[in-house]
Amino acid sequence: MRLKVKEKFCSQLSFQGLILSVVSVVLCKTQEEVSVKNEEQVTLGGNVTLQCNLTKSHDITQVTWQKNDKNGHFENVATYSDRLGIRINEKYQGQLNFTHLAPNKTAIILWKVNVQHNGCYKCIFNTYPGGAKEGKTCLTVYEHLRASVQYNISDGHLAAFCSSTAFPRPVISWTVPEDERGQEQNTSHPNGTISVINSIHLKNSRSLYGKELICRVMHMGKSQDYKVLVTEEGGHWFSVPVLLTVLAFIFVILILIVVCWRRHRKKDGGEALGQV
Ligand SMILES: *[C@@H]1O[C@H](CO)[C@@H](O)[C@H](O)[C@H]1NC(C)=O
Ligand SMILES: *[C@@H]1O[C@H](CO)[C@@H](O)[C@H](O)[C@H]1NC(C)=O
Ligand SMILES: *[C@@H]1O[C@H](CO)[C@@H](O)[C@H](O)[C@H]1NC(C)=O
Ligand SMILES: *[C@@H]1O[C@H](CO)[C@@H](O)[C@H](O)[C@H]1NC(C)=O
Ligand SMILES: *[C@@H]1O[C@H](CO)[C@@H](O)[C@H](O)[C@H]1NC(C)=O
Ligand SMILES: *[C@@H]1O[C@H](CO)[C@@H](O)[C@H](O)[C@H]1NC(C)=O
Ligand SMILES: *[C@@H]1O[C@H](CO)[C@@H](O)[C@H](O)[C@H]1NC(C)=O
Repeated sequence: MRLKVKEKFCSQLSFQGLILSVVSVVLCKTQEEVSVKNEEQVTLGGNVTLQCNLTKSHDITQVTWQKNDKNGHFENVATYSDRLGIRINEKYQGQLNFTHLAPNKTAIILWKVNVQHNGCYKCIFNTYPGGAKEGKTCLTVYEHLRASVQYNISDGHLAAFCSSTAFPRPVISWTVPEDERGQEQNTSHPNGTISVINSIHLKNSRSLYGKELICRVMHMGKSQDYKVLVTEEGGHWFSVPVLLTVLAFIFVILILIVVCWRRHRKKDGGEALGQV
């Protein structure tokens, strides 16, 4: 009785082991047979080429490129077969084409990339009799970051604004003043770029005079700091002392001009008298 149970257990175990090893062999094999770059990056509006190479020779019946949609399902983008030629999904007409139709290599070029092109792509070689061999590559579409920080002061209240535009969405935080969360406003532009404005409101602006406000913007895994110095007049190019100095300077110059002119006239007058 006991022996039987043990036997059954063992046979089950080895059967599962067999399945596991078969699955892993199949997985490894398909991964090995298509050589592909895991990631590509492209700026919004640029061109990009995605390519896959088959590492072993096979009889290929069709090459298919697919892209994942928002729900993660892959849909056909383009196919090629000797029999039917190039077929491009209506949605992508005029946006891409094959650049390589060699039996062991496929490449597509995407023109004037937009934010909808962001995502993962599969290349599938349908082979006979080997079945489908596929590779996957993920495309990151981005737009360079533009950001700035400014502030104004009224009635002793300071309002600071950190503005940034990019794709994917930039993330804003304040390092000075520390732990300030701020209020955020998003705007999506027609070309897919996103503007984020983070504003903070501080009651006592006087305590910040001579200090810097620092806003940190994260984009594409990098962070950049944007700074602005708080001055008494709230960011105007003139401050009271500067204005007074400039006025005094102009006053001195005017006096000098008047003095010179009067001296000159006296001299001229004397010469004229002498001549008569
Ligand atoms: C595919 O092969 C070409 C040469 O034919 C090579 O330049 C390219 O880097 C290869 N691409 C990948 C993803 O292996
Ligand atoms: C993208 O490709 C098109 C067509 O080949 C070309 O006219 C355009 O200059 C390319 N754009 C860039 C940014 O390379
Ligand atoms: C792809 O095929 C070409 C000829 O058709 C051959 O020269 C090349 O070595 C092959 N590349 C690979 C990676 O098998
Ligand atoms: C796509 O590429 C094929 C083959 O290289 C070419 O015959 C066809 O004219 C191209 N189509 C477009 C729209 O560029
Ligand atoms: C401060 O600047 C913001 C944005 O430039 C503006 O909306 C706001 O009215 C300004 N406030 C004052 C008091 O000037
Ligand atoms: C801005 O976008 C982020 C991320 O999409 C979202 O979590 C946040 O609620 C948005 N804020 C506003 C004010 O729309
Ligand atoms: C996208 O739109 C924004 C806002 O209109 C603009 O600043 C940016 O230059 C545009 N980018 C491209 C690549 O067209």
